[in-house]
Amino acid sequence: MADHIESVLTEKRSFPPSDEFASRAHIRSRAEYDALVSRARENPEAHWEAIARELHWFKPWSQALDWSNPPFAKWFTGATTNLSYNCLDRHLTTHRKNKAALIWEGEPGDIRILTYQMLYQEVCKFGNVLKKLGVERGDRVALYMPLVPELAIAMLACARIGAVHTIVFGGFSAEALRDRINDAKAKLVVTADGGWRRGQVVPLKANVDAAIENTPTITGVVVYRRCGNSIVMKAGRDHDWGEMMAAVDARCPAEELDSEHPLFILYTSGTTGKPKGVLHTTGGYMTGAYITTKWVFDLREEDTYWCTADIGWVTGHSYVVYGPLANGAASVMYEGAPNHPDPGRFWQIIERHGVNIFYTAPTAIRAFIKWGEQWPAKSDLKSLRLLGTVGEPINPEAWMWYREVIGGGRCPIVDTWWQTETGAIMITPIPGAVPTKPGTATLPFPGIDAEVVDKQGKPVPPNSGGYLVVRKPWPSMMRTIFGDDERYKRQYWSEFPGCYFTGDGARRDSDGYFWIMGRVDDVINVAGHRLGTMEIESALVSHPAVAEAAVIGKPDDLKGESVFAFVTLKQGQEGTPALRDELKAWVVKEIGAIARPDDIRFADLLPKTRSGKIMRRLLREIASGKATGDTTTLEDRSVLEKLRAQEEEE
Ligand code: WTA
Repeated sequence: MADHIESVLTEKRSFPPSDEFASRAHIRSRAEYDALVSRARENPEAHWEAIARELHWFKPWSQALDWSNPPFAKWFTGATTNLSYNCLDRHLTTHRKNKAALIWEGEPGDIRILTYQMLYQEVCKFGNVLKKLGVERGDRVALYMPLVPELAIAMLACARIGAVHTIVFGGFSAEALRDRINDAKAKLVVTADGGWRRGQVVPLKANVDAAIENTPTITGVVVYRRCGNSIVMKAGRDHDWGEMMAAVDARCPAEELDSEHPLFILYTSGTTGKPKGVLHTTGGYMTGAYITTKWVFDLREEDTYWCTADIGWVTGHSYVVYGPLANGAASVMYEGAPNHPDPGRFWQIIERHGVNIFYTAPTAIRAFIKWGEQWPAKSDLKSLRLLGTVGEPINPEAWMWYREVIGGGRCPIVDTWWQTETGAIMITPIPGAVPTKPGTATLPFPGIDAEVVDKQGKPVPPNSGGYLVVRKPWPSMMRTIFGDDERYKRQYWSEFPGCYFTGDGARRDSDGYFWIMGRVDDVINVAGHRLGTMEIESALVSHPAVAEAAVIGKPDDLKGESVFAFVTLKQGQEGTPALRDELKAWVVKEIGAIARPDDIRFADLLPKTRSGKIMRRLLREIASGKATGDTTTLEDRSVLEKLRAQEEEE
């Protein structure tokens, strides 16, 4: 970890909520918000219990929080519930029964709308399909699908019968899928023939075929027909979604599950080469996803809500599927690329469905800026009343553009900070109550005890940089790393005793607002996707020509960071342009296109400290063309000269 974190941003603009917005909001004023925050501070457990009571529990809890064995939390102990029940059954006896639950658009332009009743039927049927294929409570099911309603159906069906889903983003390669299946010891894979992306078919089933040549735990594959591309169906192993659904009963009661029953595993990048299976459980996650969706997006019954995230990432889990459906909202899903068939696609979707709440990522916003204002200008965006961002720090210029060009100057922007590990939004404006400033996620969600601390764990004074930690457990926190309790303790709870360490640097300004400064560990953020530098390094080193590799993030206008790799080769290998291309393709094959190095630089040696640690700070400086920093701890200074010289040659 760096000794010192410097913060350079200064931003003075501030935007209080309009009276019109505030007067109709769930939380209508700063005073109301402050009262809520202080009640939550005095008695956090009572605060979370009051929220949990808005949901359905088959059996009430005997204890809100069991923190007797930290950092292993148990929330709502003794209670039983079911998230699928809370997302579906709970609404069927109300006016929501025939309300749109999912409003889906495929990339080619096809539209499907599923009401709560229709979604319920499909979920029950797929629950029975899973059971028929031998899936039982606690079994893991891998979902590797395009963004189609069937993905949400499969998730809700798993939750319904107590199976644990692990969704693998459709952009990951067969190798990455195989590793995740094996780590989770999944029994079944649910996939599709393909998915549409920029007019092309992503061959999901073919990837599954390659992945499961080496997955001993897999007993079957269910294949949804999305694109009609030709696929091989292996008799006895592969099952057609449509045929299976036609042959089962539509009654599938929601299992009464313990509050701590595992709900899903989602793999995310850390500082080692091995992705971490972040485990979330039922009752606490449900409570967090539910209340953050309601308060942060200020959701109203009549809203049409759209979160553009892929469901393969945590944002899609919490804010495309579980949070909105637990609230009985109408959630929009779009399958494809934002610029297909043209860069106006998102704005057409907003106009077509009358979207009121729009939640996307800074990297997307920067792409919209690049494509130009003429695209949003072609569509009527007046239905919008609230905008959100997530995934990385948003630069103030992009924030202002979002506010003016997309929000017409009238929509509050909620910049929401959170992580796969936190399950739900942690630091965010509450839009009717908290004035926003461009570039800051503002204040912790009521009940969340976040702080910025120095290396000793002491809060830093205003405007000093430090480490972002959370000091108290919260319901939607991860419970462990699947199969590796020790790594969970070490990674998140050892740096600052008693605190959860986020891996992010931050500062608080004189209003107490949190300014997130990005990762302080070896994780980079490419287009809002977290990638462990070690993962990419491991992929490079697995190539026969490579001896050693160091990967760093280089600042990038569009993607936030781009992947920059320094590679040393084995004896007798030559760093040719052809090898450079081959290595890029190699990483795509091993991990997926999101991890493709933008730059690869060959080196005789990498700059290392005397203890053998690669000096990434120096590599970062070289990558950004300003190697001026302190080199006194460097083992061999000529290494730096060589790396710099190469830069000039190119
Ligand atoms: C970064 C995505 C600044 C941060 C929900 C965090 C952000 C990591 C923000 C988690 C934000 C997310 N401002 N940085 N509003 N939101 N991040 O697990 O570095 O994919 O630790 O979860 O993204 O990424 P993850």
